[in-house]
Amino acid sequence: MRNAAKYSISQTSNVVATSRRRFLVWIGAGLAALAIPRPLWSVEDPKTAYRETIAVLTMLYHGEVESHRRYDAYKKQALKDGHVNIAHLFAAMADSESVHEKRFSEILAKLGVQVESTNQSIQVGSTKENLKYATDVELSEIDVNYPKYLARIWDEKHSKALKYIDFSWKSEKQHRELIKDIQSGTGVFFGILVERFRSTTVRYFVCQNCGSTLTAKPNERCPICTLPVSWYKEIKLPTL
Ligand SMILES: [Fe+2]
Ligand SMILES: [Fe+2]
Repeated sequence: MRNAAKYSISQTSNVVATSRRRFLVWIGAGLAALAIPRPLWSVEDPKTAYRETIAVLTMLYHGEVESHRRYDAYKKQALKDGHVNIAHLFAAMADSESVHEKRFSEILAKLGVQVESTNQSIQVGSTKENLKYATDVELSEIDVNYPKYLARIWDEKHSKALKYIDFSWKSEKQHRELIKDIQSGTGVFFGILVERFRSTTVRYFVCQNCGSTLTAKPNERCPICTLPVSWYKEIKLPTL
Protein backbone atom coordinates (compact mmCIF):
# COMPACT_ATOMS: atom_id res chain seq x y z
CA MET A 1 0.00 0.00 0.00
CA ARG A 2 2.82 2.24 0.96
CA ASN A 3 4.57 1.27 -2.31
CA ALA A 4 1.41 1.99 -4.29
CA ALA A 5 1.14 5.41 -2.66
CA LYS A 6 4.83 6.06 -3.41
CA TYR A 7 4.27 5.07 -7.06
CA SER A 8 1.23 7.30 -7.31
CA ILE A 9 3.12 10.30 -5.85
CA SER A 10 6.09 9.74 -8.15
CA GLN A 11 3.74 9.31 -11.19
CA THR A 12 1.96 12.55 -10.32
CA SER A 13 5.23 14.43 -9.94
CA ASN A 14 6.39 13.07 -13.32
CA VAL A 15 3.24 14.36 -15.01
CA VAL A 16 3.69 17.75 -13.33
CA ALA A 17 7.35 17.86 -14.39
CA THR A 18 6.46 16.97 -18.00
CA SER A 19 3.74 19.62 -18.18
CA ARG A 20 6.11 22.18 -16.71
CA ARG A 21 8.82 21.28 -19.24
CA ARG A 22 6.33 21.55 -22.11
CA PHE A 23 5.15 24.90 -20.80
CA LEU A 24 8.73 26.21 -20.56
CA VAL A 25 9.54 24.90 -24.04
CA TRP A 26 6.42 26.61 -25.40
CA ILE A 27 7.28 29.92 -23.68
CA GLY A 28 10.90 29.61 -24.83
CA ALA A 29 9.85 29.04 -28.43
CA GLY A 30 7.53 32.05 -28.26
CA LEU A 31 10.26 34.32 -26.90
CA ALA A 32 12.75 33.00 -29.43
CA ALA A 33 10.30 33.76 -32.24
CA LEU A 34 9.96 37.33 -30.98
CA ALA A 35 13.73 37.71 -30.77
CA ILE A 36 14.36 36.66 -34.39
CA PRO A 37 14.20 39.72 -36.65
CA ARG A 38 11.65 39.56 -39.46
CA PRO A 39 13.27 38.91 -42.83
CA LEU A 40 13.25 42.10 -44.91
CA TRP A 41 11.28 40.52 -47.73
CA SER A 42 8.33 39.85 -45.43
CA VAL A 43 7.85 43.60 -44.75
CA GLU A 44 6.74 46.02 -47.43
CA ASP A 45 9.53 48.56 -47.25
CA PRO A 46 8.93 51.61 -49.50
CA LYS A 47 12.59 52.57 -49.27
CA THR A 48 13.45 49.28 -50.96
CA ALA A 49 10.50 49.10 -53.35
CA TYR A 50 11.03 52.71 -54.55
CA ARG A 51 14.80 53.00 -54.30
CA GLU A 52 15.27 54.67 -57.72
CA THR A 53 12.19 56.86 -57.33
CA ILE A 54 13.52 58.17 -54.02
CA ALA A 55 16.97 58.81 -55.52
CA VAL A 56 15.55 60.74 -58.49
CA LEU A 57 13.02 62.69 -56.40
CA THR A 58 15.70 63.66 -53.88
CA MET A 59 17.99 64.90 -56.65
CA LEU A 60 15.13 66.81 -58.30
CA TYR A 61 14.02 68.26 -54.96
CA HIS A 62 17.48 69.78 -54.40
CA GLY A 63 17.45 71.10 -57.98
CA GLU A 64 14.08 72.78 -57.38
CA VAL A 65 15.29 74.36 -54.15
CA GLU A 66 18.33 75.71 -55.97
CA SER A 67 16.24 77.03 -58.90
CA HIS A 68 13.79 78.65 -56.49
CA ARG A 69 16.63 80.42 -54.67
CA ARG A 70 18.37 81.31 -57.94
CA TYR A 71 15.29 82.93 -59.51
CA ASP A 72 14.59 84.75 -56.27
CA ALA A 73 18.14 86.17 -56.34
CA TYR A 74 17.76 87.05 -60.04
CA LYS A 75 14.50 88.84 -59.23
CA LYS A 76 16.29 91.01 -56.64
CA GLN A 77 19.10 91.76 -59.08
CA ALA A 78 16.63 92.72 -61.83
CA LEU A 79 14.94 95.11 -59.42
CA LYS A 80 18.32 96.67 -58.57
CA ASP A 81 19.06 96.97 -62.31
CA GLY A 82 15.72 98.70 -62.83
CA HIS A 83 14.12 95.86 -64.87
CA VAL A 84 10.88 95.51 -62.94
CA ASN A 85 9.11 93.40 -65.56
CA ILE A 86 12.02 90.95 -65.76
CA ALA A 87 11.98 90.82 -61.94
CA HIS A 88 8.28 89.98 -62.21
CA LEU A 89 9.01 87.07 -64.56
CA PHE A 90 11.71 85.74 -62.20
CA ALA A 91 9.28 86.06 -59.27
CA ALA A 92 6.75 83.90 -61.16
CA MET A 93 9.39 81.31 -62.01
CA ALA A 94 10.62 81.24 -58.40
CA ASP A 95 7.06 80.63 -57.21
CA SER A 96 6.62 77.79 -59.71
CA GLU A 97 9.86 76.13 -58.54
CA SER A 98 8.70 76.41 -54.93
CA VAL A 99 5.56 74.46 -55.91
CA HIS A 100 7.71 71.67 -57.43
CA GLU A 101 9.93 71.68 -54.35
CA LYS A 102 6.87 71.28 -52.11
CA ARG A 103 5.31 68.47 -54.14
CA PHE A 104 8.54 66.45 -54.32
CA SER A 105 9.17 66.78 -50.57
CA GLU A 106 5.57 65.67 -49.87
CA ILE A 107 5.97 62.52 -51.99
CA LEU A 108 9.32 61.79 -50.34
CA ALA A 109 7.80 62.26 -46.87
CA LYS A 110 5.10 59.68 -47.72
CA LEU A 111 7.92 57.30 -48.69
CA GLY A 112 9.53 57.88 -45.29
CA VAL A 113 12.26 60.24 -46.52
CA GLN A 114 12.76 63.65 -44.93
CA VAL A 115 14.69 66.10 -47.10
CA GLU A 116 16.20 69.34 -45.97
CA SER A 117 17.08 72.26 -48.16
CA THR A 118 20.68 73.31 -48.34
CA ASN A 119 21.92 76.86 -48.57
CA GLN A 120 24.46 76.70 -51.35
CA SER A 121 25.66 80.08 -52.51
CA ILE A 122 24.06 81.37 -55.71
CA GLN A 123 26.14 83.13 -58.34
CA VAL A 124 24.39 86.29 -59.42
CA GLY A 125 25.54 88.41 -62.36
CA SER A 126 23.90 91.29 -64.18
CA THR A 127 20.29 90.78 -65.32
CA LYS A 128 21.54 90.14 -68.85
CA GLU A 129 23.95 87.44 -67.60
CA ASN A 130 21.28 85.94 -65.34
CA LEU A 131 18.84 85.59 -68.23
CA LYS A 132 21.54 83.95 -70.30
CA TYR A 133 22.37 81.50 -67.49
CA ALA A 134 18.69 80.64 -66.98
CA THR A 135 18.21 79.63 -70.60
CA ASP A 136 21.68 78.40 -71.60
CA VAL A 137 22.31 76.32 -68.48
CA GLU A 138 19.26 75.89 -66.29
CA LEU A 139 16.63 75.22 -68.97
CA SER A 140 18.72 74.00 -71.90
CA GLU A 141 18.84 70.31 -70.94
CA ILE A 142 15.28 69.76 -69.77
CA ASP A 143 14.19 67.79 -72.85
CA VAL A 144 17.19 65.50 -72.46
CA ASN A 145 17.20 65.10 -68.68
CA TYR A 146 13.50 64.68 -67.82
CA PRO A 147 12.94 61.69 -70.15
CA LYS A 148 16.00 60.08 -68.50
CA TYR A 149 14.57 60.62 -65.00
CA LEU A 150 11.20 59.20 -66.02
CA ALA A 151 12.80 56.17 -67.72
CA ARG A 152 14.93 55.50 -64.65
CA ILE A 153 11.94 55.22 -62.29
CA TRP A 154 9.42 53.77 -64.73
CA ASP A 155 9.70 50.15 -63.54
CA GLU A 156 8.90 51.10 -59.93
CA LYS A 157 5.53 52.51 -61.10
CA HIS A 158 5.10 55.16 -58.41
CA SER A 159 2.26 56.94 -60.21
CA LYS A 160 2.35 60.17 -58.17
CA ALA A 161 6.11 60.60 -58.63
CA LEU A 162 5.83 59.95 -62.38
CA LYS A 163 2.94 62.41 -62.64
CA TYR A 164 4.55 65.26 -60.71
CA ILE A 165 7.93 64.90 -62.42
CA ASP A 166 6.10 65.20 -65.73
CA PHE A 167 4.25 68.30 -64.42
CA SER A 168 7.57 69.82 -63.44
CA TRP A 169 9.02 69.16 -66.91
CA LYS A 170 5.98 70.80 -68.57
CA SER A 171 6.30 73.87 -66.31
CA GLU A 172 10.00 74.20 -67.14
CA LYS A 173 9.05 74.21 -70.84
CA GLN A 174 6.68 77.10 -70.12
CA HIS A 175 9.51 78.97 -68.34
CA ARG A 176 11.72 78.47 -71.38
CA GLU A 177 9.01 79.90 -73.65
CA LEU A 178 8.45 82.86 -71.33
CA ILE A 179 12.07 83.97 -71.42
CA LYS A 180 12.81 82.91 -75.00
CA ASP A 181 12.13 86.36 -76.48
CA ILE A 182 14.38 88.11 -74.01
CA GLN A 183 17.08 85.44 -74.22
CA SER A 184 17.32 85.96 -77.97
CA GLY A 185 18.22 89.53 -77.18
CA THR A 186 21.05 88.90 -74.77
CA GLY A 187 23.43 89.89 -77.55
CA VAL A 188 23.69 93.39 -79.02
CA PHE A 189 19.93 94.00 -79.01
CA PHE A 190 19.46 93.36 -75.30
CA GLY A 191 18.86 97.02 -74.49
CA ILE A 192 16.17 97.38 -77.17
CA LEU A 193 14.38 94.20 -76.12
CA VAL A 194 14.52 95.10 -72.45
CA GLU A 195 13.01 98.49 -73.24
CA ARG A 196 10.20 96.78 -75.17
CA PHE A 197 9.68 94.36 -72.30
CA ARG A 198 9.76 97.24 -69.79
CA SER A 199 6.88 99.01 -71.49
CA THR A 200 4.71 95.87 -71.78
CA THR A 201 2.50 94.97 -68.85
CA VAL A 202 2.45 91.25 -68.29
CA ARG A 203 0.50 89.34 -65.67
CA TYR A 204 1.73 86.01 -64.30
CA PHE A 205 -0.33 83.19 -62.82
CA VAL A 206 1.11 80.06 -61.20
CA CYS A 207 -0.81 76.86 -60.47
CA GLN A 208 -0.21 75.99 -56.83
CA ASN A 209 -0.60 72.29 -57.55
CA CYS A 210 1.74 71.73 -60.51
CA GLY A 211 3.70 74.98 -61.00
CA SER A 212 2.22 75.78 -64.43
CA THR A 213 3.21 79.39 -65.23
CA LEU A 214 0.98 81.39 -67.57
CA THR A 215 0.46 85.02 -68.59
CA ALA A 216 -3.34 84.61 -68.57
CA LYS A 217 -5.55 82.57 -66.30
CA PRO A 218 -6.96 79.53 -68.11
CA ASN A 219 -10.74 79.51 -68.55
CA GLU A 220 -11.61 76.47 -66.50
CA ARG A 221 -8.83 74.04 -65.78
CA CYS A 222 -5.06 73.99 -65.53
CA PRO A 223 -3.64 72.87 -68.91
CA ILE A 224 -0.98 70.79 -67.15
CA CYS A 225 -2.59 69.14 -64.11
CA THR A 226 -6.28 69.71 -65.08
CA LEU A 227 -7.27 70.97 -61.61
CA PRO A 228 -9.78 73.87 -61.47
CA VAL A 229 -8.53 77.37 -62.24
CA SER A 230 -8.96 78.30 -58.55
CA TRP A 231 -5.55 76.65 -58.00
CA TYR A 232 -3.91 79.58 -59.82
CA LYS A 233 -2.34 82.41 -57.86
CA GLU A 234 -1.49 85.74 -59.47
CA ILE A 235 2.10 86.82 -58.85
CA LYS A 236 2.30 90.43 -57.78
CA LEU A 237 4.72 92.88 -59.36
CA PRO A 238 7.74 92.80 -57.02
CA THR A 239 9.23 95.86 -55.38
CA LEU A 240 12.65 96.49 -53.88
FE1 LIG B 1 10.89 73.05 -61.43
FE1 LIG C 1 -1.79 72.83 -62.47
